[in-house]
Amino acid sequence: MIYKKFITFEGGEGSGKSTQIKLLAKKLIPSSQICLTREPGGTKSAEQIRRLLVTGKVDKWSSLSELLLLFAARKDHVDKLILPALSNNKWVLCDRFIDSTYVYQGMCGKTSMETIKKIENLVLGNLKPGITFLLDIEPKIGLSRSKRPGNKELRYENMDFKFHKKVNSSYLKLARYNKKRIHVIDANKSKSEIENDIWNMIKKKTL
Ligand code: TMP
Repeated sequence: MIYKKFITFEGGEGSGKSTQIKLLAKKLIPSSQICLTREPGGTKSAEQIRRLLVTGKVDKWSSLSELLLLFAARKDHVDKLILPALSNNKWVLCDRFIDSTYVYQGMCGKTSMETIKKIENLVLGNLKPGITFLLDIEPKIGLSRSKRPGNKELRYENMDFKFHKKVNSSYLKLARYNKKRIHVIDANKSKSEIENDIWNMIKKKTL
């Protein structure tokens, strides 16, 4: 099922997703209730799994172990937070969702798209976001923002630069295959220009 009020944000490291989610939430708050969340994470148990994924050595997991951890976190998140919020007619603004898995583990990793699809069917059934914003940023700029001092969640950031360039081009490819749902936003623009681009699309598509 496609939920119009289920909005996901995707993009490489340091693309400004979390900033834009907060800005969009501020705009939506007067009209209704909002659930701001993220993946991996979003619930207490999923946040515990997040820590296992985003810290430590780049090669600490086999590709299948990593995929199963991501989906274990996602199952908890969907069942305990996302679906209850959507059934209460709330907006759900989620920082990353299933597209991250297709890009990072599938197109750029060692997992086949068929394996991801099978587990997606099991975990999500036909749950789909209504709109996805892809914040498209030059990987060098994004990584330099994300590798700021104090950020301890650097496992993905520490993957080699080639990987991050592939993440960038794979997202754009995925967007071309899902033109109706995924909207590419030029995240090299200023914060307020990006905010306006996102808001104009939300107004056109949902309000
Ligand atoms: P964040 O830095 O945007 O919070 O995301 C944490 C990392 O998790 C990010 O580098 C990408 C990675 N990730 C995946 O590899 N696959 C997934 O399915 C998700 C949700 C995140």
